[in-house]
Amino acid sequence: MTASFSVDQGEGRKGGKGRRSIWTIGGGKGGSGKTFIAVNLGICLSRFGEEVVLIDTDLGGANIHTFLGLSFPQRTLSDLINKRVEGIRDVVVDTGIPNLGLVVGAQDLLNAANPKEPQKWKLIRHINSLDVDYIILDLGAGNSFNVLDFFLMSENEILVVTPEPTCIENTYRFIKSAFFRKVKRIISHYGVKEIIETALDQRNERGIRTPFDIIELAGEIDKSIGLRLEKELENFRPKLIVNQVRTKGDIDIGFSMKSAFLKYFGISMDYLGYIVYDNDVWQSIQKRKPLVLEFPQSRASKCINEITLKLIVDKPFLFNSEG
Ligand SMILES: Nc1ncnc2c1ncn2[C@@H]1O[C@H](COP(=O)(O)OP(=O)(O)OP(=O)(O)O)[C@@H](O)[C@H]1O
Ligand SMILES: [Mg+2]
Repeated sequence: MTASFSVDQGEGRKGGKGRRSIWTIGGGKGGSGKTFIAVNLGICLSRFGEEVVLIDTDLGGANIHTFLGLSFPQRTLSDLINKRVEGIRDVVVDTGIPNLGLVVGAQDLLNAANPKEPQKWKLIRHINSLDVDYIILDLGAGNSFNVLDFFLMSENEILVVTPEPTCIENTYRFIKSAFFRKVKRIISHYGVKEIIETALDQRNERGIRTPFDIIELAGEIDKSIGLRLEKELENFRPKLIVNQVRTKGDIDIGFSMKSAFLKYFGISMDYLGYIVYDNDVWQSIQKRKPLVLEFPQSRASKCINEITLKLIVDKPFLFNSEG
């Protein structure tokens, strides 16, 4: 295979933005379409002449290569962590798609799905050092600290939700945990840390349910910390994609979630748009060919193209019409 992807060493990058953008794709529930969306968004972006690297951070269940019709790569994040290669550039493999590179995790990566804290931060530093136009991180399911820390390393935190009560519930839980985790990382005050720990604890017997509760309790201990947390909440702006949409009611779930997040959690969310449920999706997966290449005229491909366009403009025209 000819090398159609090369990582630039820092100069002369295409794309005109002059800076790197990281998108993380998560959402808590398994099977909602995170990997499918990561791959197809990546391809759409690469077609704009942007250098894109897809990274499979689902360390225990890496499968992004299958969506691209590739066999499991010989070089993986495991080589990086075990110092068999020098830098993350050495584990970017060619996908055969111009401008699109791929990095996968590995089953044997330390304790696979659970790398230890220092190793995880090392991985995050390596990813941050990759100098390309776009990095897209495909996350695993669940809201473990590992998943949350990868999710939070980006300026474009994208949530994928399907229109099912269980998935919506998981997404609420995921985003709350992400906010608690985010503030835990920046607050060093012992008493406040303890409150956040309690909030993050699944058993949470002190009834800390929302970011508002944390801010109130923290503010009672130290007013300036309360104000700082308020600011963090204001700046926390995840983006939402509703996937596998079948009805107009399904599309509206995005708007309802947006309002509910603001009302109950004080979290402003951008509704990026929806992707229809489309048989062409599973057909493309069966064929191990990415949807936007195999069925570019499909309804789902068109939805993904629209979402890509919204994401690449600096001030995205967000999906805000309820009509
Ligand atoms: N828009 C869609 N239309 C039809 N089927 C879809 C659509 N999106 C996803 N799917 C189906 O859902 C399945 C799961 O998708 P995917 O593997 O991307 O989910 P995931 O969120 O990455 O799962 P995991 O959490 O296990 O990593 C796909 O194999 C596909 O069959
Ligand atoms: Mg996946």
